[in-house]
Amino acid sequence: MTGSPYLRIRSVQKSYKGSVALHDIDLDVEQGAFVSLLGPSGCGKSTLLQILAGLLEPDRGQIQLDGADITNLPPWRRNIGLVFQNYALFPHLSIRQNVRFGLDMLGMGRVEAEKRVDESLEMVGLDPSLSRRPGELSGGQQQRVAIARAIAIRPRLLLMDEPLSNLDAVLRHKVRLELRELHDRTGITTIMVTHDQAEALATSDRIAVMQSGRILQYEAPETLYGAPATAFIAGFVGSPPANLLPLTASGPDNWTLADGQVWQPAAVLAPKANGAQSGRACLIALRPETLTIGTSGDGGLPARVAAVEFNGGDRLVHAETGGTRITVRIAASQAIASPDILLFPPQQAPVLFDATTGTRL
Ligand SMILES: Nc1ncnc2c1ncn2[C@@H]1O[C@H](COP(=O)(O)OP(=O)(O)OP(=O)(O)O)[C@@H](O)[C@H]1O
Ligand SMILES: [Mg+2]
Repeated sequence: MTGSPYLRIRSVQKSYKGSVALHDIDLDVEQGAFVSLLGPSGCGKSTLLQILAGLLEPDRGQIQLDGADITNLPPWRRNIGLVFQNYALFPHLSIRQNVRFGLDMLGMGRVEAEKRVDESLEMVGLDPSLSRRPGELSGGQQQRVAIARAIAIRPRLLLMDEPLSNLDAVLRHKVRLELRELHDRTGITTIMVTHDQAEALATSDRIAVMQSGRILQYEAPETLYGAPATAFIAGFVGSPPANLLPLTASGPDNWTLADGQVWQPAAVLAPKANGAQSGRACLIALRPETLTIGTSGDGGLPARVAAVEFNGGDRLVHAETGGTRITVRIAASQAIASPDILLFPPQQAPVLFDATTGTRL
């Protein structure tokens, strides 16, 4: 076992004029990790990031970085790199001057600082001889300058608040990959705020899912996807997210759906469904790619195809059964001959939640 984690957040609370933005946040980040804070608007992501940066003071709690308590350290003494959604470049300074800014603040000598500027601009894929001002650059280029400025000081922590949100879809996809590659090359411990679950899944070693000022789950992307801790996470993570079906486990080998239909899952699922206790109102999470479609066979749930989306490599079939919509991902090569289909449950154990609390059973 190693000692304490590189970044350690303990019992951090924050209220704005009596309304609680962060309840009681505990979070550990290993050195060199890429972590995302993921959640819907208003859940407290930026508040937590700003507390880490020292731009906001927590009402209580403690932050340790590399073994030292930094809770009361002013921002400029934390050695943290910051990147914002709107780039926040100095418009009157050239690109090189922007990147040099933090180095001058540190009192670094001219020759060394200029070398560091070259390195940092090259690292983000910009030409160091670029003599323009920020206003003459595209959004993607401006964000690269902001990232170069943040990493030029060789920060102990790189904090980014929605760094890709202002970029168009194609660029967003490209730059997110570049961010991960940059992280892997520099090894800088990185925390990124995002409300885009695909972005978090694609870039992060671990994701902290937040809702209403709390961290609901903090796991590797694969775990978050395969074993969500709450129904909210199952319905939030994934594109499209998991189907959440209300049902009552009416026995070890059948489930009664909300509309009264009985679905008999494959035998392999029975023990898990049984564990949900007979008669208990549950939600079952079914990933679109784990369901299969057929026209005959035992254990299929009759459904009607409402729409089919072609996505190039696959198709999304949106089917209705009773009052419920279920999305299924099938291969693009699979044909849907008739709108009347049978849905077959997944072969692996399903994830079930309590219908009232949304917590995992
Ligand atoms: N300066 C402030 N004064 C009062 N309330 C604030 C202030 N800043 C944030 N809040 C409130 O605190 C809560 C958390 O805000 P925060 O900005 O951390 O959310 P967020 O997760 O970053 O949201 P978004 O995705 O929209 O940026 C929200 O309810 C917000 O309205
Ligand atoms: Mg925010």
